[in-house]
Amino acid sequence: MRGQWGRRPEESIARANELLDNFASMLEKRGVSVDRPTPIDFSQSVTTPDFHTESQFGCMPPRDVLLTVGSEILEATMSYRCRWFEYLCYRPLMQRYWQEDPNFRHEAAPKPRLTDADYHDDYLSEKIGVQKRLEWTANKHFVTTEEEPLFDAADVLRFGRDLVVQHGFTTNLKGIEWIRRHFPEHRVHAVNFPGDPYPIHIDATFTPLRPGLILNNPQRRLPEDQRKMFHDNGWEIVDAAQPAHNSPPALCYSSVWLSMNVLVLDPKTVCVEKSEVYQAEQMDKLGMEVVEVELRDAYAFGGGLHCCTADVYREGSLEDYFPKLA
Ligand code: ALA
Repeated sequence: MRGQWGRRPEESIARANELLDNFASMLEKRGVSVDRPTPIDFSQSVTTPDFHTESQFGCMPPRDVLLTVGSEILEATMSYRCRWFEYLCYRPLMQRYWQEDPNFRHEAAPKPRLTDADYHDDYLSEKIGVQKRLEWTANKHFVTTEEEPLFDAADVLRFGRDLVVQHGFTTNLKGIEWIRRHFPEHRVHAVNFPGDPYPIHIDATFTPLRPGLILNNPQRRLPEDQRKMFHDNGWEIVDAAQPAHNSPPALCYSSVWLSMNVLVLDPKTVCVEKSEVYQAEQMDKLGMEVVEVELRDAYAFGGGLHCCTADVYREGSLEDYFPKLA
């Protein structure tokens, strides 16, 4: 937690559990089956032959680890040392899905070694001001190196045949190339968003709402040349509403832009965090039915409504939303 190690405050754990349980029961009432991970003891330190870390992360955001594409769920490499073993929390479910569904493919990307060679030295030093950081990220100079393929699942957006992947801190170019070779039937597109000093996960930056419509963080606009595939295929990219808060909650790693970390249930229905009144108002104007969900007190555990969910099964078939791509 921002330079601190060990177990989080007990009351914050109880409160986050309460909010996540309420979110799960609301989804169940709407006919969604909700499966939950099996936590491990995250306060334990971890040592591999290549690294040591004093404690681990948690399993609030399955979105970061699991990438569902068709009948496959792929465990991402992950890129933080404290998240290397997080896949273990999902193994009971993965085994169950594998037993129950003869079409289910359980895949795991090669575990990275995460030696010091994976990270630029001193990159995250407090001495580097935000201006320098913005220059670095605009020039695609990120904390991770190209030592080996790295990606977090939350850097990937799925648009039927097309996978749009953020190149940033948690996903490097080799990681994107690994995804491309792994899904030969899909088209894989690398994107980046200058303006984000800490590009970690795409889901507070670029949020598809329904076929043809995407919200983009107005401080992290997709560069003009990368908009072409969307515009050529009739997609509209609109600026997201301003967040309702000036700062994230205590011990939270994410930015105030968790306002746009919404969960789309179907092309007409979207879950928005209860305090994010401007985002809810914009959704309403865009013709979406808004379901308010209280989650802000759980943000510190790893994210918002999109982060803390991962779809494992949806009805429908593979679509081509970008027919004008070669
Ligand atoms: N890293 C993303 C943000 O905080 C989730 O904006």
